[in-house]
Amino acid sequence: MGFMLAAAGSAVGLGNIWKFPYMAGQMGGSVFVLTYLVCMFVIGLPILVTEWLIGRRGQKNPIHTMEDVAKAEGRSANWRWVGIIGVLGSFLILSFYSVIGGWATDYIFLAGKGTFLGMNGEGTNRIFSEFLGSVNHLLIWHTVFMFATAVIVAMGVSGGLERSCKIMMPGLGLLLIGLVVYAAVVSGPAFGQAFSFLFTPNWSALTGEAVLAALGHAFFSLSLGMGIMMAYGSYLGKDVNLISTARTVVILDVIVAILSGLAIFPLVFANGLQPGKGAGLIFVTLPIAFGNMTGGTILGVLFFIFLTFAALTSSISLLEPTVELLEEKTPLGRKSATLLSSVVIWALGVACVLSFNEWQNVTLFGKNIFDLLDYFTSKLMLPLTGLGTIIFAGWMMNQETIRRELNLSPALFAGWKFLCRIVIPIAVIFILIYGFMD
Ligand code: PFF
Repeated sequence: MGFMLAAAGSAVGLGNIWKFPYMAGQMGGSVFVLTYLVCMFVIGLPILVTEWLIGRRGQKNPIHTMEDVAKAEGRSANWRWVGIIGVLGSFLILSFYSVIGGWATDYIFLAGKGTFLGMNGEGTNRIFSEFLGSVNHLLIWHTVFMFATAVIVAMGVSGGLERSCKIMMPGLGLLLIGLVVYAAVVSGPAFGQAFSFLFTPNWSALTGEAVLAALGHAFFSLSLGMGIMMAYGSYLGKDVNLISTARTVVILDVIVAILSGLAIFPLVFANGLQPGKGAGLIFVTLPIAFGNMTGGTILGVLFFIFLTFAALTSSISLLEPTVELLEEKTPLGRKSATLLSSVVIWALGVACVLSFNEWQNVTLFGKNIFDLLDYFTSKLMLPLTGLGTIIFAGWMMNQETIRRELNLSPALFAGWKFLCRIVIPIAVIFILIYGFMD
């Protein structure tokens, strides 16, 4: 149970509620959504199982786990690079994750002050633009969020936070369901429009970029390709059924993302907003609902509190690998290791904050710093590390031991092997090439 909470706590976060809808909106909707669903179950689920399996074997941090398991299988210790790139990925992701976590935190107070009462899309857009333009404001909330993450990691009390998920997660789920129902009731035909935007295939939006974005998001959303799930695997008992536990986590993760999409897009269409608005999408849509429903102020406060908690359980899992690595490789203790890594991540986050305003025009390859960090991690590092993990498990490890560990019949295992050895590596390589040539 504790394990499930930690794994689900890491998986469910801003990725589901903030990133999924905004990417779906930018990538034209259903093609992205459907590819994401396929990627979650066909690629994400087996990689999640594989990361846990390797982590349970290695019992260490991702880098040493990869090294030890590789050596035990008679392979090169260079497989540690899968772990190294993973830790680097988590470090880079946290820098922008903390900025968005800060937005969620600030919106608790904005909602509480009744800022959104009676507002339409124009109003929430204005508030959000003013918010983005205020560097000090963004900096303060990024700092608060990063500080909270660091304190929890430094004091080693993440278990306590994860336990609070027992209340927060169902709360978040219920509120999302409530928002979907609200959207269905008040937005009339816009709900149908949103539904078909998300689920009726529009093949014209099928581009390499959309498919790569969907693959990358499946990794991001399940916290894969960063060694994080590998690290969690070391807490798994031998008797835990990896496949069914992974299935539960994937289903939960997908449900939260889809609910979020169904709550947001009806508001987008009913209020004449742009689906492709980008990173601010939930911050301009949901406040319209909170501003116009009965009890909206209190529900808005609760929603953003739950969202902030969901973001925190993910951000602590993002900080943990870097801190552990510093603890092991340097004479630093836990507290100083946390301080050092948090300060560096925070500083990178400051650059990310500025990319929303003063450094908007500072670009590389046509992308500002926030986009670049996101692109580089989700679309390159995570798929590559995932690919490394699955090739390692499929081709480098003793298959009979894996079969017994997964408790699969020989026939089912043949299917599993085909998936891990052939289907997933080819799919990931193909999507990477297709995505980058686009
Ligand atoms: N999976 C988290 C989310 O969807 O918000 C984000 C995340 C956490 C990504 C941990 C990566 C990670 F290692």
